Amino acid sequence: MNKATAIAHSNLAFVKYWGKIDHTLNLPSNSSISMNLSGAQTTTTVEFDDTFPADEVRIAGQPASAKSAARIAKHLDLIRATAGIDLHAHVATENNFPESAGIASSASGFAALTLAAAAALGLNFSERQLSILARRGSGSACRSIPSGFVEWIAGTDSETSYAASIAAPDHWNLVDIAVIVSTEAKSVSSSLGHKLAEHSDFWDARQAILPARLDRVRQAILDRDFHIFGREIEQEALSMHAVALTSAYEQEGRWNSGVYYLAPDTLELLIHVQRWRAEGLPVYFTLDAGPTVHLITTGSNQQAVIDAVKTAQSSRPWNLLISDPAPGAYLVSDSGAKG
Ligand code: PMV
Repeated sequence: MNKATAIAHSNLAFVKYWGKIDHTLNLPSNSSISMNLSGAQTTTTVEFDDTFPADEVRIAGQPASAKSAARIAKHLDLIRATAGIDLHAHVATENNFPESAGIASSASGFAALTLAAAAALGLNFSERQLSILARRGSGSACRSIPSGFVEWIAGTDSETSYAASIAAPDHWNLVDIAVIVSTEAKSVSSSLGHKLAEHSDFWDARQAILPARLDRVRQAILDRDFHIFGREIEQEALSMHAVALTSAYEQEGRWNSGVYYLAPDTLELLIHVQRWRAEGLPVYFTLDAGPTVHLITTGSNQQAVIDAVKTAQSSRPWNLLISDPAPGAYLVSDSGAKG
């Protein structure tokens, strides 16, 4: 078999990866903890053949842009070099969620690509090896290889920086209600954000609290302690954004005081969350490098949180993407069944 199809879910970080010690190898400055998202998945088929004259990449049935095709080819080169082969590949990939949703498609994308390419070449990699390879494509992709609730151990070099499962998807019925308040492309990519982060005045303070925060978030997941968990992740999201907001940079000759990923509606929702909690609704938020607000609650409160969002939304064009904890990356047969 020289062809394989894999599915991987995107993931949402509760303790964020923000800053790298190596920008080529994607070695993070700190460990991070995430949950795979059932509502956001990528399906990727990779086929190698000695008759293919070049790599060919299709995204949602269309030829990929030169930039996306080059990034995918570079990742295939890494896998080809690991396998010691130089066959070209055809790659067909699609997401079941819109690119504008503010959910990292690079995480699910590079996890699915890594697993499909390795399987198509008959490479029997361990979960750890797959996670290391996926990390090279996009840092957070390493967390989409293992199942459920996942920790990316920062490590000190490429071989020691990988993700592993902390708990299975059915361990805890957490729900992520992603409120997509804006579909504008972000002005600062996460790769630039990672580079700027260590120049923030608050960088050292953030690094100092992270080891204890990682321990508390991991333990709260294991204990299913929603309120300890919620307080930690909400403060953590604000800590990452405090660093971003104070990461000054110059772009096209213009000075910016910081990286503003938040939109006005983002802030409005964060304030609503405080009020909803005061009114007895168990809900906390987290944020990624964008304006989407991720409302975290438990299964039994999902509808009440959706109702609260709908009331706050009024006539604004917010969209919701709802996810439960999802499995890690897996192979599917051509019939679509789990392989
Ligand atoms: O994997 P990247 O380079 O897109 O970085 C992801 C950064 C955050 O989403 C903001 C945090 C995280 O841990 O996923």
